[in-house]
Amino acid sequence: MNPKKPRIGKTIAAVLGIGIILVSAFLFFKPSLPGPEAPRIAVITDTHYLASSLYDDGPLFRQMYEEGDGKNMEFLPALFDAFVYNLKNAPPDILILTGDLTFNGELDSHRELAGRLKTMEDLGIKVYVIPGNHDIQNPFARRFSQNRAYSTPQVSPEDFARIYRGFGYAEAISRDAGSLSYVVQPFAGLRLFMLDSNIYQYNNALGMPVSEGEIKAASRAWLKTEAEAAKKAGCRLIAAMHHSLTEHNAVARQSWTVADSPAIAELFASLGINLVLTGHIHVQSIAQAPTPAGPVWDIATSAFSVFPHEYGLLEWLPESAGWKYSLLPVEVEGYAKSQEKGADSFDERLLTFSAYGEAFFRGSSERMIRRRLAELEEPLTEAESALLIDLVGTLNANFFAGRSGENPQELLNSPGFEILSRRLPGFLDHYIQSIRGGETSHQDREALIPDSGNPRD
Ligand SMILES: [Fe+2]
Repeated sequence: MNPKKPRIGKTIAAVLGIGIILVSAFLFFKPSLPGPEAPRIAVITDTHYLASSLYDDGPLFRQMYEEGDGKNMEFLPALFDAFVYNLKNAPPDILILTGDLTFNGELDSHRELAGRLKTMEDLGIKVYVIPGNHDIQNPFARRFSQNRAYSTPQVSPEDFARIYRGFGYAEAISRDAGSLSYVVQPFAGLRLFMLDSNIYQYNNALGMPVSEGEIKAASRAWLKTEAEAAKKAGCRLIAAMHHSLTEHNAVARQSWTVADSPAIAELFASLGINLVLTGHIHVQSIAQAPTPAGPVWDIATSAFSVFPHEYGLLEWLPESAGWKYSLLPVEVEGYAKSQEKGADSFDERLLTFSAYGEAFFRGSSERMIRRRLAELEEPLTEAESALLIDLVGTLNANFFAGRSGENPQELLNSPGFEILSRRLPGFLDHYIQSIRGGETSHQDREALIPDSGNPRD
């Protein structure tokens, strides 16, 4: 008569049952070690983030903001919030930022941006960054207050690795001793080669950031060793760097492309890297660098800070054995509607941000043209100027969005072209011709990049 006996028996049976289930699960469940079956990698670039503590609504900031090259710094916090809102329902596995993280390398901007990246990681996204030519030892780092700009602390390479330790540097399986390049393995079967292509050691002596890029000889040797190790580990490889691997456009050349680019492309191809994600040119463009071992795809995602404010998405397609790249808008209006309209800080412009962002971009384009027109000895009529401003605004907007191929024939035959060639020969004409596009243009907004497989031996 032991009342506890049946309960002990039941407990033993339950433990045995659970044990059998666990052992069966261990034996028959295929662990998902290679990571997600179809990994998704988002990429943004040239965010040019400026910390809110570094500017006011004074005349100097306004002037710089409005007369600049279309970077919409004022709305970057809202764009980041909208981006998080966009990603929340189906977060990608990885987010890569390919440099020019900050406006001009301000310490406060790096710190504030790192806080925003933490919000991305809180969604379960692995975030990895590399610097761009604006981010390190930049003598242009400034705080704007009313009519004046004050120097503000910049960052060293060591500061950069420290600030972004949670976004690549602490997780690196290897770091290059001579640069801020590193390798991460987000999950088994994939290694990301995050390459620092910047030259910042001379910036302070020169008094300006060096725009050109390079992969130093020692870094190339490190890359070779690491890529061979990745091959032995059976990994797919993707590279990311700030500068272009190849020329994207007749005017986006020299300083935009990494030095010795044909040799770098050959090195990538020989190591089994057939895809590199880049930024720097602020324009959406997909190009291929030809090499004897096959092409290397260079996908330059358009600047996050510039209209139309988009991001790239790479999706592994098992059935095609390749990466699908597509460009998606940061949808701001939906985010804005979800916000409390009654709040003091709510900005009504967010509710119609697509139109507002385009108007801001076209305004930058118009000011650029008007500066050129002001140099003419014999001025254009107001009607001619209006035609030209409209034409260049449309061409520029389509060029930055990677939509030059969609320019309709009537636009390409419009009277603005006649005015351009008659009155503005030279750079503007050359630039416009280079962004003219039309039917012969290739696709810049999406691509299917075949798996490079194992490096070609
Ligand atoms: Fe940039």
